[in-house]
Amino acid sequence: MPLDLKNLITTRLGENYRLHEQHLNSTLVSVQRIIGFDHVYAQARGCYLYDLDGHDYLDFLSGYSVFNIGRNHPAVQQAIRDVLEMDLPNMVQMDCSLLSGLLAEALLKKLPSHLNAIFFCNSGTEATEGAIKFARAATGRTGLVSIEKAFHGLTNGSLSVMGDVHFQEGFGPLLGGCTRIAMGDFAALKAKLERRDIAAFIIEPVQGKGVQFPKDDFYVKAQQLCRETGTLFICDEVQTGLGRTGKWWGFENWNLEPDIITVAKSLSGGYVPVAAIVARREIYQKTFSRLDRCVVHSSTFGRNNLAMACGLATLQVLDDENLVEQARVNGEELRKRLDALKEKHSLIKEVRGLGMMIAIEFHQPKEFAAKMGWKLLHMVESELFAQMIVTTLFKKHRILTQIAGHGMDVLKILPPLVTGEKEIERFVNALDDVLADCRKFPGPIWDFGTQLVKHSLRRKPAKVTSSAQI
Ligand SMILES: Cc1ncc(COP(=O)(O)O)c(C=O)c1O
Repeated sequence: MPLDLKNLITTRLGENYRLHEQHLNSTLVSVQRIIGFDHVYAQARGCYLYDLDGHDYLDFLSGYSVFNIGRNHPAVQQAIRDVLEMDLPNMVQMDCSLLSGLLAEALLKKLPSHLNAIFFCNSGTEATEGAIKFARAATGRTGLVSIEKAFHGLTNGSLSVMGDVHFQEGFGPLLGGCTRIAMGDFAALKAKLERRDIAAFIIEPVQGKGVQFPKDDFYVKAQQLCRETGTLFICDEVQTGLGRTGKWWGFENWNLEPDIITVAKSLSGGYVPVAAIVARREIYQKTFSRLDRCVVHSSTFGRNNLAMACGLATLQVLDDENLVEQARVNGEELRKRLDALKEKHSLIKEVRGLGMMIAIEFHQPKEFAAKMGWKLLHMVESELFAQMIVTTLFKKHRILTQIAGHGMDVLKILPPLVTGEKEIERFVNALDDVLADCRKFPGPIWDFGTQLVKHSLRRKPAKVTSSAQI
């Protein structure tokens, strides 16, 4: 009897958390319960998730930036259907599939001409791993420099260029020769690169953690230094690519010319995992340098038809719906309105970001009551405050957001690029309301904060926040 998937889903929806607790990551289930995110969603479309009762949840988390074109886009659905209906040959491996050639062609059209060779793989971290290998093979050097608080993925090579030791704990030894500099510290970078043993300097144009980026010409100078020292310059566009920052690529915000970029997340259209490493041809060829090295770096599912079709459909949607420009315009508007909230709420320290990658950083408020609550939470863990805001936005206003990383008072939003006026209005009003609630201490919002404190103290050293991937 063939699988009746629709029946299976409708009859068992609601068992999600029990199944995960039993068979998957039960620690994650515990955290989701503590922070009140243990909801069951039945449907999704565009910027919204819907629960079993049809309530809408505004998704400003976007699956960590997987849903730039919104959820369940009909154009991607159609592309998937087309592939299935045509019974295409898939992953023959010893052929050259048409769809991977077409996606490579389409992606390269969106990039400067010096980036002209592509390798497809399945995830952001796999793209980082490949980029590291390409850089090492091309330069004959082993060293790698990244930036404090960097996030490039969680497999061992990527973890080696990670900028947050929390993620590395317990998994060493990692790759040798990896060091970090503080964001903007040109002197430190110079000291490292002038040793001429560094294969690559890798950046996220806008860091996922905390949404940090230089306000000056640090990247431009760093790129120049890379050229002078024979170091390759890698831009990890896994999160910043495909319109997220209001430009096609994050590096365009500084007119950079990286030697290698990595792409993933939204290229999938939110359906089939796909990632890409894009490099200068001469760098690429140093890996595939002889006939017997033609598959020295490869990935079984890397060029699979469904992934390629999703990538093609996604690029088309970004163009057809003018989403990159929309992200720039609406992102600016959203930041402007959030910035205006600073007048009302002394809790807001700074609103920063580019396009639809936005952080709202908090600091100790002036109002006496709110200051008491702030101090209480910060005696335990600094990110508890941001988690309290995230949870309240979710419980009271049905808006999904995230904290921006460990030890930060930062709320981060990654609205789908299809976000419009209605969603902007809803979010700004909700944040205004939640921050007004913070003035009532004691009050319901701080009661939840106190619960977080209790869990945190009980579970130390385990944290009760949810910044696993940012
Ligand atoms: C900048 C960046 N690079 C790499 C990764 C890793 O991607 P993946 O989770 O697909 O391995 C992420 C994931 O959040 C990311 O934000």
